[in-house]
Amino acid sequence: MTKLAAAEVAALDPYKFMATIGKRVIHPGGRVSTEALLARAHITAASQVLDVGCGVATTAMEIARRFGAQVTAVDIAPLMLERAEANVRAASMTGRVTVQPGDICALPFEGDSFDVVIAEAVTMFADRRRAASELARVCAPGGQVLATEFCWRTQPPAQARQVFLGQVCPGMFFDTIDDWVEIYSSAGLTNVATQTGPFEMMTRRGFLADEGPAHSLAIMTRVAARPANIRKMAWLMPRMAKAVPYLGYVLVASQKPR
Ligand SMILES: C[S@@+](CC[C@H](N)C(=O)[O-])C[C@H]1O[C@@H](n2cnc3c(N)ncnc32)[C@H](O)[C@@H]1O
Repeated sequence: MTKLAAAEVAALDPYKFMATIGKRVIHPGGRVSTEALLARAHITAASQVLDVGCGVATTAMEIARRFGAQVTAVDIAPLMLERAEANVRAASMTGRVTVQPGDICALPFEGDSFDVVIAEAVTMFADRRRAASELARVCAPGGQVLATEFCWRTQPPAQARQVFLGQVCPGMFFDTIDDWVEIYSSAGLTNVATQTGPFEMMTRRGFLADEGPAHSLAIMTRVAARPANIRKMAWLMPRMAKAVPYLGYVLVASQKPR
């Protein structure tokens, strides 16, 4: 795995940083929201599934393992692709999970190619309308499009909003649940349903639930082993803490009309 210099660690966005320290679940609702997503996805062993913005391929591998489906996992970031490929190889899942580069705003697939299309915490980093349209385009008629997004559960004070969107995740944008429903409906998707919950990814309880005690300890050990990681955590955690009480996830489940 490519080892980053200290200055590169400092410049990482929070999600790539999480990947470098070995975190496997890197989206706001954690495994709870992934379970909610999978419960609505109607995946079978015959399904062709696309996971866009796959991160380190945790959900992609879970789908292949649990349902026996064929999964294509795409991400725009070389750092994520490197880790996703290594994880798939280590799990001997090459062939069942195919990892390749791809931009959610211009997916490298023909229209109507996949039975189920998922994107966990990805559209917010791009042009959200274009991203939703692309997810819809590559989904087969009658197929499912499911996305996990951030939302504000209660309106945050201006300072918390500024710290989160201006410093922690610059360039990211999201707002209310209604906003998401409108975006996915405008992409031509129907039966748009939502499910929400709190942002637990970085709370002690959520972290432990997502990664398990042994892996959580391994992550903390990896952080402690490098001053650059400690500095990054020390910068990140107090800023995240300002926004966490107001943040949540929304799962948007929808269908492409037949
Ligand atoms: C919050 S992480 C989520 C990772 C993964 N889905 C998960 O839940 O663990 C966001 C991911 O989206 C990827 N990403 C950001 N912009 C993208 C784009 N335009 N196209 C594809 N992937 C993108 C990032 O590289 C990152 O892996």
